[in-house]
Formats: sequence, structure tokens, C-alpha cells
Amino acid sequence: MTIDTIIRQGNLIDGQQQIDIAIDKGKIVEIGKELKINSRQTIDAKGCLISPPFIDTHFHLDAALSLGNPRMNESGTLLEGIQLWGELRPLLTAEEVKKRALAMCRWSIAQGIQAIRSHVDITDSRLITVEALLEVKKEIAPWLTLQLVAFPQDGLYRSEGAEKNLLKAIDMGVEVVGGIPHFERTMSEGTRSITTLCELAADRGLLVDMHCDESDDPLSRHIEALTYETHRLGLQGRVTGSHLTSMHSMDNYYVSKLLPLMAEADVNVVANPLINISLQGRHDNYPKRRGMTRIREMRDFDINVSLGHDCVMDPWYSLGSHDMLAVANMAIHSQQMTALEEMRYMYETITTHSAKVMQLDGYGIQKGNDANIIILQASDSIEAIRLKAIRLYVFRFGEIVAKAKPLVSHLNLNGNTFEVDFKSKNIE
Ligand code: FE2
Repeated sequence: MTIDTIIRQGNLIDGQQQIDIAIDKGKIVEIGKELKINSRQTIDAKGCLISPPFIDTHFHLDAALSLGNPRMNESGTLLEGIQLWGELRPLLTAEEVKKRALAMCRWSIAQGIQAIRSHVDITDSRLITVEALLEVKKEIAPWLTLQLVAFPQDGLYRSEGAEKNLLKAIDMGVEVVGGIPHFERTMSEGTRSITTLCELAADRGLLVDMHCDESDDPLSRHIEALTYETHRLGLQGRVTGSHLTSMHSMDNYYVSKLLPLMAEADVNVVANPLINISLQGRHDNYPKRRGMTRIREMRDFDINVSLGHDCVMDPWYSLGSHDMLAVANMAIHSQQMTALEEMRYMYETITTHSAKVMQLDGYGIQKGNDANIIILQASDSIEAIRLKAIRLYVFRFGEIVAKAKPLVSHLNLNGNTFEVDFKSKNIE
């Protein structure tokens, strides 16, 4: 029997080395050492890391690549970003949103991302963002799985018509209920929005993902209400709190009560280190808070934490290339999680933990799963994060959909030549 493809001599995330992976008809059919199987195509992984694809659990495809339009965010704050997006929103057309989103998706695929949870702003009653992203979702599905969140950017109650628009977006096919309780007019309105939105999700059998406590205010405690509603409505495992930056500034005693409740309700958490580290603490002088949620502490309670890129070149963030390894890299730095097992854990936050957040079936390098695989120019997961390693191959359903040349620099120093790939500690 001859199968489609064998990837030979790669390393797996769990540390196994020199592993072959056999792929046929879009599926992983065998994994093992020195497989004796014939294939039409052989890829020599040469000791590089074979990984399941990256997943971005928090993104804004409707805003991505809009940087500078209609102007730049001068203060660099979250609030000016929201204001700026409000200026751009009435100028948007479905065609323009779709064009930008598709261009962004091509970057994502090249970066080895194969699933994105994208929030979609439903504030504008024309709902052109929803229309555009539903079309993008359908068109890009062969290469990239999109999950859309109905997101009331300016508040469910604070923004006129948002509640009606949100329901309409869900009827149009958006599958996750979003919210932004800290941006409502008062704390109590924020809590009320959480109750309404969670009840809606429970009624319709939908998932929930809220921008929650994206603030430096230690008294922004909407995660408590979100956890309570998750428990009350039996939504365990189906609810995500995104950002949770106020937890950075919260009273430690309060957090010691909060975390076990979050664990009990099986609430997922998405941290967005690139954005949180840039936007939070902007109102502080020195010492300056950095506004990252408490990943290490949540890990101790077995709370499922994943990471999001959140923004690429939009009103909130001028940088980025949708590189989830850059996100994990920033998380390690900002959380000071530099122990070897902590860095390995961080790789999980952009892969397996994210699959749990999005409830993706059949994710991972396992026999019988879809052959969705990336090969990185790195020997292991820590090296991948260190180097923000090149995605040498991206497989989707067994087909190579992206390829890149290895990064090697050729030096000539007074006639002595060297090859530098930053991969090994070779000092000869
Ligand atoms: Fe966001």
C-alpha cells in the first residue's frame, strides 16, 4: 500500500524524538519510529518540531490591518482606541472589511494558525461587519476555522440598539455571545449585562466569551459575576473571560477567594499579553502597573488559560504579524514564567488549551485526527518560542498549504565563513 505523505524524523511537543508521521486522505494514519510504509511524498523534518497548528482564541478580524485609518491612536490607551474605532466604524463597507479580513487570514495561515476566535463588533446597526466576516468564515474554511463572537464594543446597554443587533447577529449565524461589562455605564449595569448574555447563551445552547475587566481598576470584579452565572446556569466549560487585567491590581485576599470559584465553574481565561502590556497602566506614573492577569496563579488552580493576539495593526496596536509564538514569548516575559516547565506550559496556551476554549474536536497529533500539522525550524517547544521559529511547512487536511525557507545567515568575517541559524548552541 502506498499512502500520500510521510513526515520523517521530527520531534514532538511531548519530547519524543525521531518520529515519523504517516498521512493519507487528509488523516494521520500512523505515528511511530522508522515507519515501514511507502508514500508518494516524503518530507524530511530533520529533527525539527512537528506540532499541531496554532490557535488564536482572541482576535478582531473586523479591525485588523486598519492602522492609521482615519488617524493614529495618539495616547496609546484602550479608551482612545475604542473612540478611534468608533470614528472608523461608520466609514466601513462590507467589501473593505472582507478584503482586510481575508488578507489577515492569509497571514494567519502562513503563521501556522488554523483556528481563530474573532470578536465581531455589532454596534453599527447595518451589521456589515457581521455580513463580511460570515462570508470570510465560509470562504476561508478549507484552510482556517473561524469562530465568531457577537461583540457589543460600546456596551450592551450603553450603546443604543446593541441588544437588538446582538440578537440579529446570532440569528445571522454568529455562534458565541460576547459582552463588555466593564464598559457599561455602572458596575451594576455591567453585572446585569452578564446575566442577560449568559441567559441568552444558556437558552440558545451557545458559548460565551466576554471582554471582562480590561481595566486597571482593582474593583472591576465582573469576572466574579461571570463565574457566578456560569455556575448558576450550568454553563461549565462553555464560558470564557477575556483579558481579566484588573486581576493584576486586585487585592490578594479577594483573588484567593475568586480563583477557586473560577476553577469550580470551569471558566476559561484568555490573556492577551501583547495588548495588555501595551495598553494597561497608561494612567499610572511610577511604579507602573503592567496589567497582565495572573496566569501562574490560575495555572495552580487548573484553570484553563489560553492566549490571544487580539490585534494586528489596528486602532489599539500598531505592531504584530499574527505570530502566536510572539504572544507566548511576551507572556513568558511579562509573567516571569521562565522555568523550563513554565515555558513548556506556555506553548500549551497557544495550542491545546486554546482548542479547549474553542471546543474543537479532533485537535492534536494523534492517529485518526485530521492531518493539520505545522513543522517549525526549532527542536522543541521552548526553542520555537525563543526563536519565534519559521513555519517551514503548514499542512491542512494533509495538504501543504504554506512553505517557508529556513532562516540561515551566511557570514564572511575576514575570509572565515559561518552559517548562523540561532538554533543550536554550537560554539565550534
Ligand atoms: Fe479584544
